[in-house]
Amino acid sequence: MEILNLSKIHNITLIDGDGIGPEITEAVVKIIEAAGVKINWDKQLAGIRAYEKYNSVLPDETIKSIEKNKIALKAPITTPIGTGFKSVNVQLRRHFDLYANVRPSKNIPSIKTPFDNVDLVIVRENTEDIYAGIENVIDNDTIHGVKLITKKGCERICKFAFDYAIKNNRKKVGVVTKANISKLADGMFLNTFREVLQNYPQIETHEILVDNLCMQLVQNPSQFDVLVMPNLYGDIVSDLCAGLIGGLGVAQSANIGYDCAIFEAVHGSAPDIANKGIANPTGLLRSAVMMLNYIDEKDSAKKIENALFEVMKEGKYLTKDLGGSATTKEFSEEIIKKLSVN
Ligand code: NAI
Repeated sequence: MEILNLSKIHNITLIDGDGIGPEITEAVVKIIEAAGVKINWDKQLAGIRAYEKYNSVLPDETIKSIEKNKIALKAPITTPIGTGFKSVNVQLRRHFDLYANVRPSKNIPSIKTPFDNVDLVIVRENTEDIYAGIENVIDNDTIHGVKLITKKGCERICKFAFDYAIKNNRKKVGVVTKANISKLADGMFLNTFREVLQNYPQIETHEILVDNLCMQLVQNPSQFDVLVMPNLYGDIVSDLCAGLIGGLGVAQSANIGYDCAIFEAVHGSAPDIANKGIANPTGLLRSAVMMLNYIDEKDSAKKIENALFEVMKEGKYLTKDLGGSATTKEFSEEIIKKLSVN
């Protein structure tokens, strides 16, 4: 009798990006396959290569694929400079209303950093603030840049942060603003946080100004757990937090909306090392681990993370950016070997 394989096959849009994108994507896809997750990858273009083929950095085909699959894994793309193109990332976030940007920062074994007990998560509002792109010329010497904050935007991101905390067994959520200066816009963000927290009595809360947060983060980051904040502060603070765990090369991120999510490494397309086979796929791999957790492939996500950390800990096959001399292929093959023995 034929035995049916009941494990789920996932349909996921794959954007392998520009520069080092295709190299790190190939490595990550092989690792996911080796972990036994069944995925139909729907390969699509965005960025420079998309522009060359479709005369658009974000073709309709790519949008339609994400609309259909609801989930995408995206490698970094090159933003043409001085051409007036809107950032593809900002376009994607707007189109799919990916209002929550989630950036966990936790120490990685073997990467030496000033602190060895960092374990925090930045929840960044992803659609409003100055990223709404509203700027007006008042006169030749005066520009009016709008910081757009809405009640709906504040409510959904604060709620997201609390729900995330509960789902991920986290104890504390802090709100980060500059409400002492931005009394109306950040004031609304802070007041909304105070309203939303009433529904989550099990979660400890605190309030902190963004400048003080930056100082505290570089002195004592372990005091923080989940931190929710408006878009611009989140953009800056999440890079600071990536620095606490070894830099952008190892940092992961997820952009999450109501019914769609895009997972991506936070570093760029690294044109200086493209096509050399030496790029570190860790950032994209850890973003893929977030994706596997999101699609409920939790066992495979854990297996991949354990294998990655084992390779990191042994330190024999690290890529150049981490002080080693391994190629992308050697590093990823070592992870695959660990997967098969565990
Ligand atoms: P970048 O992050 O590409 O590179 C900065 C430095 O880090 C370079 O020395 C690079 O070699 C190194 N690096 C980055 N990722 C690495 C990896 N995985 N392994 C080893 N080394 C790595 O930043 P840059 O040079 O400012 O931007 C290059 C392009 O990427 C630009 O067109 C920019 O707009 C785009 N970009 C795209 C992003 C995205 O698609 N999410 C995010 C940031 C930048």
